Amino acid sequence: MEIRHVPVMRQEALAYLGPAVNHGLLIDCTCGEGGHSEMFLRHFPHMRLIGLDRDQEIQKKAKKRLAVFGDRVTLVNTWFDSFMDTYDISDQRPTAILFDYGISIFHYEESQRGFSFKRDEPLDMRLDKDGALSAADVINSYPEERLADVIYQYGEERYSRRIASAICRKRKEQWINSSQELAEIIKYSVPKNYRYGRIHPATRTFQALRIEVNGELDRIERSIEKAVELLAPGGRIGIISFHSLEDRIVKQTFRRLAKKCSCPPEQMQCTCDRKPILKILTKKPVKPTKEEVDSNAPSRSAKFRFAERLSTE
Ligand SMILES: C[S@@+](CC[C@H](N)C(=O)[O-])C[C@H]1O[C@@H](n2cnc3c(N)ncnc32)[C@H](O)[C@@H]1O
Repeated sequence: MEIRHVPVMRQEALAYLGPAVNHGLLIDCTCGEGGHSEMFLRHFPHMRLIGLDRDQEIQKKAKKRLAVFGDRVTLVNTWFDSFMDTYDISDQRPTAILFDYGISIFHYEESQRGFSFKRDEPLDMRLDKDGALSAADVINSYPEERLADVIYQYGEERYSRRIASAICRKRKEQWINSSQELAEIIKYSVPKNYRYGRIHPATRTFQALRIEVNGELDRIERSIEKAVELLAPGGRIGIISFHSLEDRIVKQTFRRLAKKCSCPPEQMQCTCDRKPILKILTKKPVKPTKEEVDSNAPSRSAKFRFAERLSTE
């Protein structure tokens, strides 16, 4: 039976982005299988949608699912940050933009690219099949210190040095090529109490590898401000993040774009004449309800932030 990704925080997405999409254009920057996209297209029969995803395989699923909406839908196989660089707003200015970061259940369960260590799969983890760097390349070729930094920074893994050292010892014997092999190396490199703790000891390292291989945080960093600039005045942006590294970038970027003054703090009077381009709609991120977490466990770490584009004229 096909397992389908359950879109998170659907009601919240509708409540905050709904007022902006009615007759407008929604760019779903992480369309995946098209769960959120389908929901919006059904609710708002006059809106258009552009759905982005870098992964060709998952996009095929979205194409099938969204075919009933005909020419209201345009799917583009691209990284969202590249799209932001080239989109021409004279075509149509988006009135809403949605990001739902990370990967889909498809990647863990079906893609066979080593995102999960539940099954033994090649260590690939690329969303872009033509991408230069696979997870096996990172594991087998990065110098030990760099590998430890990746695991520490992107996985927030406190045993990063021990894990990197164990990987480097093992790879001297043979190329590490499979997800379960890597998970085992990690498991036996950490202290016993951590080995049998709340989460599998390889979870954070796998997250770090995925982020490194796909340049995830750089892409997030480079795209939010550009997305806000594309939005029509009154348009809304909604961003769902799943870990603190992502959420920190979203929070800080929103704050910077909503700032009314950029004068140094010691200056008594404002002289910068700065105009904020964003109004933050959710001072604290919106979190899923208990009912949602109970029925869809992966939603438990979701944080949703919304903001509205201001006119700068
Ligand atoms: C969490 S899933 C989205 C699920 C979708 N909202 C739904 O309801 O079905 C995230 C998707 O974004 C894609 N993705 C992640 N980072 C991307 C990027 N920088 N550019 C384009 N697509 C990206 C992944 O391939 C994945 O399919």
